[in-house]
Amino acid sequence: MCGIVGYVGHRDAVPYLLEGLHALEYRGYDSAGVAVRVDGALRVCRCEGRLSALESRIAAEGLTGSPGIGHTRWATHGEPSERNAHPHLDCNSRLAVVHNGIVENYADLRRRLVADGHHFSSETDTEVIPHLIEERLRRGVAARDAVREAMRELEGSFAVGILLADDSQCIFAARHGSPLVVGLGKEGNFIASDALAISRHVESVIYLEDGQVAEVTPQAVTVIDLEGREVKIEPRPLTVKAEEAEKAGFETFMLKEIHEQPRVLWSMIERHVDENGEINIDFGDLDSEFLRRLERIMVVACGTAFYAGLYGKLFLEHLTEIAVEADLGSEFRYRAPKFDQDTLIIAVSQSGETADTLASVRSAKSRGAPVFSICNVPMSTLARESDAVFYTQAGPEIGVASTKAFTAQLAALALFSLRVAEVRGELTAEDKNQLLTDLRRVPQAIHRVLLAKEHIAEIAEKHHSGPSALYLGRRFNYPVALEGALKNKEISYQHAEGYAAGEMKHGPIALISEYMPVVCICTRTADNLYEKMISNIKEVQARHGRIIAVATEGDRRVAELAEDVIYVPEVREEFSPMVNVVALQLLAYYAAHARGNDIDKPRNLAKSVTVE
Ligand code: M6R
Repeated sequence: MCGIVGYVGHRDAVPYLLEGLHALEYRGYDSAGVAVRVDGALRVCRCEGRLSALESRIAAEGLTGSPGIGHTRWATHGEPSERNAHPHLDCNSRLAVVHNGIVENYADLRRRLVADGHHFSSETDTEVIPHLIEERLRRGVAARDAVREAMRELEGSFAVGILLADDSQCIFAARHGSPLVVGLGKEGNFIASDALAISRHVESVIYLEDGQVAEVTPQAVTVIDLEGREVKIEPRPLTVKAEEAEKAGFETFMLKEIHEQPRVLWSMIERHVDENGEINIDFGDLDSEFLRRLERIMVVACGTAFYAGLYGKLFLEHLTEIAVEADLGSEFRYRAPKFDQDTLIIAVSQSGETADTLASVRSAKSRGAPVFSICNVPMSTLARESDAVFYTQAGPEIGVASTKAFTAQLAALALFSLRVAEVRGELTAEDKNQLLTDLRRVPQAIHRVLLAKEHIAEIAEKHHSGPSALYLGRRFNYPVALEGALKNKEISYQHAEGYAAGEMKHGPIALISEYMPVVCICTRTADNLYEKMISNIKEVQARHGRIIAVATEGDRRVAELAEDVIYVPEVREEFSPMVNVVALQLLAYYAAHARGNDIDKPRNLAKSVTVE
């Protein structure tokens, strides 16, 4: 979604702002802008569309200045346009504001400010913020207190960067519900909504908490709470490396991230399983006694992470007697789930900033339930609000369509399930060792799928032009069918539906014709579920559907039924989703490629959905 960068120091701010905004492009945006201080005044440059348009305009105007703030906007209130792009100004252009999040009470605030004579020039919720600060500055309130008091009036979620024409040495940052960091560097100090944006220039960062305001100068950072009390926060070394956010020779971030999956899974297994087969997971305060008496787990997540959660439900139920539910964050927060302090909430999120997942976690915590999160981004809001965190450590995921974060979530949920089953005495040492041996085969199997990418590209090129596609899977591969369809929709824009194959006769079979590609996940299972999947494939074949099968290497039966087959190495069924989904990621990838789409930045999507 939106991105914020700010710089204060003795150099021109513009190159830092543009570099930071480029690093945030992956989050999704539809307009962008910067404001810098020049000779005691503010100069603003904004435009609709990509950053390249903003760069051309900045170059044409010869814009330089310092300090400065910049923003990429993903439209919520008001269409994507130059006048709605940030930064927004007060009546006299003496202060500029960039904002992520939503000001929920903006309509009331705006009415009041207009009645008091303030002039508005956009449709955004953000524009109330500069006017709220302005009215205090006019009364002679000091800048720091004006910012703090204005923040107290806002309802909703926000991360804000503020630049003042009257102060050549300072920018402000404030946070409530949306992430914001302050970065400390040799060339100056920075603010950003994601540390990745400033990672080349800072050695350490301060993660602001909700309700904190930072006054950032080239020499120092002062953090206060909304009461004006100073808060001491120790800067932490920055762990994200700038080169992790580069394409490393791949044509897109998504393709790079697809290829990183064997390494991500291999190192996760190495980190969490020692040479004696002991599984090490930090459960924080959730002790073994709690895990033994657990009767209920509720998994909450959104999008791809929710499909990982569905897999977690299946695997936990498979290994333990615990009743497990998986729910969408956006639904969980508004229903009346029954749970108590003996229910564990598992929140799954790549970013750790997804608004609906966070709201679900907060609602569960307020009712006493402990929260275990599976998260990729260190120090994210979710990680900080959870009782224990399993960091997937997949590295920054820049492609908007999630790939390596998903397989890492599956592996994390598998390890979690194994450990919980072991602690509860529901898994024999022999079974555990066999499962771990089989899990260790997964990275190599994924590697072999990657080697088949040219074949998968040919299949994608053949089938991408149809209006719609159906994805079918069963049991552990039902979430994979959902995820395969989501990947296809997200980046190729071909409509796709994921279905439990057994549900096909209850409706979607009506869609099948010679124009409908049907992707059937039909890898071998230890029981008769494979045969059931074969029956489903025959039903599709009888209606002339165009079958693309994902099948186990050497399976000739599927080849006789399907128009195209993607063979994957044989792995234990429980772990086959981590392998099979890679075939579907590549299928979606090459369909999008054939359609000429912007794969890393699909239209309308944001990497992390920080507003409801
Ligand atoms: O950061 P999160 O894992 O919480 O994000 C959840 C979803 O927004 C995310 O998975 C989304 O569905 C992606 N676009 C999937 O590719």
